[in-house]
Amino acid sequence: MKVGLPKEIKDNEYRVGLTPAGVRALTDAGHAVFVERDAGAGSGFETELYQQAGATVLGSADDVWAEGEMIVKVKEPIAPEYPRMREGQLLFTYLHLAPDRELTKQLLERKVTGVAYETIEDRKGTLPLLTPMSEVAGRMAVQVGAQYLEKMNGGRGVLLGGVPGVPAARIVIIGGGVVGTNAAKIAVGMGAQVTIVDKNLDRLRELDDIFLSKISTLASSAYAIHGAISEADLIVGAVLVPGAAAPMLVTRTMLKDVPNGAVIVDVAVDQGGCIETTRPTTHSNPTFYEEGVLHYCVANMPGAVPRTSTFALTNATLPYALRIANRGFVDAIGSDPGLKLGVNTYAGKLTYEAVAEAQGLDFTPLDDVLGGASSQTISSARSSS
Ligand SMILES: NC(=O)c1ccc[n+]([C@@H]2O[C@H](COP(=O)([O-])OP(=O)(O)OC[C@H]3O[C@@H](n4cnc5c(N)ncnc54)[C@H](O)[C@@H]3O)[C@@H](O)[C@H]2O)c1
Repeated sequence: MKVGLPKEIKDNEYRVGLTPAGVRALTDAGHAVFVERDAGAGSGFETELYQQAGATVLGSADDVWAEGEMIVKVKEPIAPEYPRMREGQLLFTYLHLAPDRELTKQLLERKVTGVAYETIEDRKGTLPLLTPMSEVAGRMAVQVGAQYLEKMNGGRGVLLGGVPGVPAARIVIIGGGVVGTNAAKIAVGMGAQVTIVDKNLDRLRELDDIFLSKISTLASSAYAIHGAISEADLIVGAVLVPGAAAPMLVTRTMLKDVPNGAVIVDVAVDQGGCIETTRPTTHSNPTFYEEGVLHYCVANMPGAVPRTSTFALTNATLPYALRIANRGFVDAIGSDPGLKLGVNTYAGKLTYEAVAEAQGLDFTPLDDVLGGASSQTISSARSSS
């Protein structure tokens, strides 16, 4: 298969869809990879590394998109990229189509096969291509929080670990999933006093087993959250209700009892946030105050550490890219029902129900578009998974 790797062009996006190691895996398997010059520069991968890995380097994005039967990216295409997409081309990237009418329209009109990282599932029903970015954001949340707690950065001037004779900072992490657990690891490592709030008692039991006496766990309720944050130096928002907006768990009224200069890092901002006062911010203008509390609500936190994020992302995406390239699209999705769930658009049809619902458009099951023979392959693969 011919695989295209264009440079990302979204504002402040320095990640890239494949590392040189990923390119090497594809070329070793007999595929041709076309890389746009400087595609990996923002992540610290010089063009020569891709050449050494067997890629053909092309000077323009137009050329890469023209060559690639499968385009591997990080972010959803934006307007300048729309005309480059063509019928039958496979686009493997984060798409986040539900709120993006224009991109959905473009993918359908241009009959692009849109395989979205964020809707691929593994056998446990979790989202393996979202997990690495949650790991990055969770670990970053405490790092960023520590930085903004410093006085000259606008915080209340508290050192996370304290010192002998002075108590450590109190961190309340709301949501004990991937983001919350990774935040807790860093916070415990820095010597902070950590409380994790979750509504899932089994999850709290697991966290209690993992961290032993190094953290406190708290069953989620408005009362418990209000009490915990009233003494917090740093609050991390890390909840998720899959497919829904984040539940609003901290109200403006509660914030009036949070110490002045405390910091909120609402990682859940990409789903609307779990703090009433949250609004999305960017890396160039990341913070604002509400009720005397410093808010950091950047919706694409992993973008700040593109090198780590590119490695983490491609560790997770490469096996799928290889499967598609090696087996071809139809056979690849037939052999992996979780990968099949990633197919959002195919041959001009919207094949992911939640996106169709969100946009009030017609949903067509993928099997209906693929036709009889391929449908059989897919349903037999599903029953054996
Ligand atoms: N801002 C960014 O750059 C960035 C990056 C990665 C992930 N995220 C976002 O971070 C959020 C968390 O992601 P995740 O991977 O950790 O999700 P996850 O599913 O692993 O964990 C979510 C946790 O929230 C808990 N929860 C749900 N409702 C709750 C409630 N009412 N009270 C307390 N806990 C509750 C769940 O039980 C679960 O343990 C998501 O919105 C995700 O999109 C943001």
